[in-house]
Amino acid sequence: MKKLTVAIDGPAGAGKSSAARLAAGKVQYLYIDTGAMYRAITWAILQHHVNVQDEAAVGALIQHLSVRLEPLSDTCRVYVNDTEVTEEIRTQAISSHVSSVAALAVVRQKLVQLQRDMAKQGGVILDGRDIGTVVLPDADIKIFLTASVHSRAKRRYLELQAKGNTETLEEIENSIAQRDYQDSHRAVSPLKQAADAMLLDNSELNLEETADVITKLIRQKAQ
Ligand code: DC
Repeated sequence: MKKLTVAIDGPAGAGKSSAARLAAGKVQYLYIDTGAMYRAITWAILQHHVNVQDEAAVGALIQHLSVRLEPLSDTCRVYVNDTEVTEEIRTQAISSHVSSVAALAVVRQKLVQLQRDMAKQGGVILDGRDIGTVVLPDADIKIFLTASVHSRAKRRYLELQAKGNTETLEEIENSIAQRDYQDSHRAVSPLKQAADAMLLDNSELNLEETADVITKLIRQKAQ
């Protein structure tokens, strides 16, 4: 079987990471969570108290940073230099700064290069916002995974409720809509569907069904 490169892009909360991770496990591909890499850089910026708006300072800081993903069977450990930040990059502080960091050209240049290097050998699924358009324009399979704002907010609401969080559905809907807007209107590599990507709306699909669509595409194409 051919070892393909698979690009999955789409807005926040469509379940890209979970579906990509599950699909990668089923076909024994490597899963590369590019959002985690932007989060890792954001963690370092906050850690060093660098102003996110100061691109030169951010550039100087990240010159000496290495971001590393260590895939495990059902998760992916994230390191900045030798510090593990797997948990830390999921906090609200990181989530609220990461869009601004991901809008900086200096950050994107570094991470896009790293992502291309990681994808070189094939047998990989990358998920993000610009994989099919910028990182791997020649990817074997391109999927734009999305769902309505309402259904994405509802999933997130249920997730947060299980953790005891009290944010309302409306608040979550607003924050998802705002993040969509920010990610798709930034100057550098905005979130947009590649012309040759398959649109997959999973508003009515669960995680397992979404991953099945992806693995079917991979198995068909790899023959
Ligand atoms: O998928 P996520 O929520 O972990 O992504 C975090 C942020 O990084 C989000 O604001 C979009 C941005 N991102 C990006 O600009 N390009 C990517 N390839 C992946 C994520």
